[in-house]
Amino acid sequence: MSKVTIIGAGKYGSTTAQRIAGADLADEVVMTDIVEGLPQGLALDMNQSRPLERYRTKVVGTNDYADTAGSDVVVITAGLPRKPGMSRMDLLEVNAGIVAGVTREIMNYSENPVIIVVTNPLDQMTTLAAEASGLDRSRVMGQAGNLDTARFIHFISEAAGVDVLDVDALTLGSHGDTMVPVPSQCFVAGKPLTEVLDAETIAALVERTRNGGGEIVGLLKTGSAYYAPSSAAAKMVRAVLSDSGEQMPVCAWTTGEYGIDGVYLGVPATIGAGGVTGIVELDLTADELAALRAAAAAVQEKVDELGGLDIG
Ligand code: LAC
Repeated sequence: MSKVTIIGAGKYGSTTAQRIAGADLADEVVMTDIVEGLPQGLALDMNQSRPLERYRTKVVGTNDYADTAGSDVVVITAGLPRKPGMSRMDLLEVNAGIVAGVTREIMNYSENPVIIVVTNPLDQMTTLAAEASGLDRSRVMGQAGNLDTARFIHFISEAAGVDVLDVDALTLGSHGDTMVPVPSQCFVAGKPLTEVLDAETIAALVERTRNGGGEIVGLLKTGSAYYAPSSAAAKMVRAVLSDSGEQMPVCAWTTGEYGIDGVYLGVPATIGAGGVTGIVELDLTADELAALRAAAAAVQEKVDELGGLDIG
């Protein structure tokens, strides 16, 4: 029996629940929210789509953490999204209280879950959930790299005029201003990106990727992106439940890799039943490595600020 809980029935949470249920990835999907009726109504609606979409997994909508008992994987989406013009970091204080609170609730009912955090600011909220849970750090990770990489791939495919499925790319670092798209690890139909697009074009795509979430927030006016973000989270859930060992960029606890130690940061990692089963050290260029280390320092600076916040 595998059980996945999604905390938060907003757009990100509910779309993630639907993707996991719709792919029959788990035996049970529980979706919680503080708003009464919201997770129950959405779950009822989702469950009624099963005969049409031909899948079996039921979603349970609830306001009661007792229903999350015994979860194998918990995805934390709870928290406020950005408003146009806001940076993810503007959410630090308000979301810190929410993430700390829900993590404690999760741990009241599940002994040893794998926790995937998607709440922003991502790297800091992942750090906080790890601390509040008391879990081994390999069991707590954040979702950002799959999403940022998917955005980068989309932009590359448009600029190069190639099939989106023929592009391979990678982004590391923070989910924010110090995101590190990694051109040396990007390929278009097997050819290095740097041979397909000129440096100026690549730099523009890197910049657009860094601002990829903000661009969508600006267009939507209320709320932030959720289609690609939920796909990115579901991909991590799938890797954990199937113990696939698949390599993907995630926000993981570093222990000396790339010369970075003791900070949650976007790095390539293998994902399995225990969460992060290993961090992969790729051969980065000197510039990329320097950018990754700068990202680690920037994340740490804001984590230090968290220490000074009263998060209850
Ligand atoms: C984004 C949010 C979900 O990047 O962080 O769209």
